[in-house]
Amino acid sequence: MPNSMKPKILVTKHLYPEAIDFLRERVEVEYHDSDEGYPPDELLDHLRDKLGVVSQLTDKFPAAVMGALPNLKVISNVAVGFDNIDIPAATARKILVTNTPEVLTDTTADFAFTLLLATARRVVEGDAYLRSGQWRQWRIDLLCGYDAHHRTLGLVGLGRIGQAVARRARGFSMRILYYDAISAPSHVERELGLEFVSLDTLLAESDFVSLHVPLLPETRHLIGAEQLARMKKTAILVNTSRGPVVDEAALAAALASGQIAGAGLDVYEREPEVDPGLLGLHNAVLAPHIASASIDTRTKMCLMAAENVVSALEGRRPPNLVNAELWPQA
Ligand code: DGY
Repeated sequence: MPNSMKPKILVTKHLYPEAIDFLRERVEVEYHDSDEGYPPDELLDHLRDKLGVVSQLTDKFPAAVMGALPNLKVISNVAVGFDNIDIPAATARKILVTNTPEVLTDTTADFAFTLLLATARRVVEGDAYLRSGQWRQWRIDLLCGYDAHHRTLGLVGLGRIGQAVARRARGFSMRILYYDAISAPSHVERELGLEFVSLDTLLAESDFVSLHVPLLPETRHLIGAEQLARMKKTAILVNTSRGPVVDEAALAAALASGQIAGAGLDVYEREPEVDPGLLGLHNAVLAPHIASASIDTRTKMCLMAAENVVSALEGRRPPNLVNAELWPQA
């Protein structure tokens, strides 16, 4: 089909090339092949004549932006999270929103466990210690940390990723508590050996607390000073969900004062800024939002987003529709 007859889309930032090839065969693509993307005011200009956009979590779509884009039919986000998009506003304007679930579940769960173990066993401190030439001899108490095996893990949120973390924890013979808005079906609890508890019980009894909730008004600062104070002094907090789920300043203070033992973080309240209080702490392992960053998974996410936008523009129900009420299944 000549380009002039194809629907036009914008790809806001660099994607894996397989996805760009897929898109170029099917739609007319304006591709901003950079990591920064357009500044927000320019982004709007580039979107005015587009029917679709392949966006990333750093692109913001508040109601005002969507209101200025009467041609826009679909926002295909290359992420499972979609807190960068005002979903009720999109739905009100009949803009389809899609995401990339499932392909990143195991990769993200692997990384949550990586942070848990790296923090508990002081891997990053050990690396710095060795490289700086401080290692002189084996010592009985050198960089001793905490065991993960046979300890208690508290999962806050038991969606796909929370469950995948539970599967890993079973291999470490951990007791697994979870808290969520509703309890899981009993066959899931049985299969994964889970105990449903209140958030307060989970915080008080867990040696590791791992967060797996979406960012919603109800989950913003779900973990603040009060919740950190309920945790054990030997406990470790892991966050691979969204930064604002944790009050970052309160967390920095809790780590500095020894209120809790450590934190393994992949996400932050004001990315890419990180609370300066966290940066100097030896008991925080800090990753730059890379939990889903394996080459395979990121490639799959890009392809999935490409398929989502093309389906919508070809008149088919996109496989990963977030605002499903816009296209009820037959
Ligand atoms: C997501 O998908 O929401 C992650 O934060 C990036 O993979």
